[in-house]
Amino acid sequence: MPVSCQSTARTELRHATAAAHERLHEVPVFAALAAGRLDLAAYVSLLGRLYGFHDPFEAAIDLARPPGLQPAEWRRAHLLQSDLAALGQSDAAIRQLPRHPVVGSQWTPARSMGALYVIEGSTLGGRLLARQLDHLVPADGDCGRSFLLAGTDTGHVRWRDFCTALDRCGTDPASRAEMVAGAIETFRCFEAWFV
Ligand code: HEM
Repeated sequence: MPVSCQSTARTELRHATAAAHERLHEVPVFAALAAGRLDLAAYVSLLGRLYGFHDPFEAAIDLARPPGLQPAEWRRAHLLQSDLAALGQSDAAIRQLPRHPVVGSQWTPARSMGALYVIEGSTLGGRLLARQLDHLVPADGDCGRSFLLAGTDTGHVRWRDFCTALDRCGTDPASRAEMVAGAIETFRCFEAWFV
């Protein structure tokens, strides 16, 4: 049962990307995370890989100004930096992590909104995945898993409000098609980054 949110644009995005989302569940590192089988070294490596994706993608999305949202409501790459630091990674090591060569500089606002749907939607699964780390990181506070728990932060955009922004951006079929293209492209890049 999908998380509740009456949104035409979200329904369209969800259908268009369902197969790509499902495939991510089979990527070994995410399957291990979901099953509570990750060790600390693998978790730190996953955070580093996520940072190398999110930091450039979030910058590209921000540049295109997805309408109706403030960057502080959705940006999360800094949380990956905090989690990596909390788990012992130095600033120098974080700076040297490989980064995705994102080609988003020509994105329209609607296309960036589709990319943001992927980034933001992952906070829904992130809440569940964070619970599978109890054996690795301290339960008190978010130390080491603030990225996965970001969707529960009071300052973070709520899913319902994000869906409203999706609908406002996608009032016409052309904009919705742009959003869907942005979401498909982002899922494709993410999948390729992890396999
Ligand atoms: C094992 C890894 C993952 C699990 C277990 C998982 C699980 C979930 C769950 C439970 C939901 C909410 C359920 C629903 O409303 O239908 C969800 C939604 C979503 N997830 Fe994941 N997820 C995972 C990885 C990812 C990743 C890595 C991404 C993107 C990079 C992602 C993108 C999304 C999106 C876009 C949605 C919103 C779908 C919608 O519109 O309903 N997920 N995920």
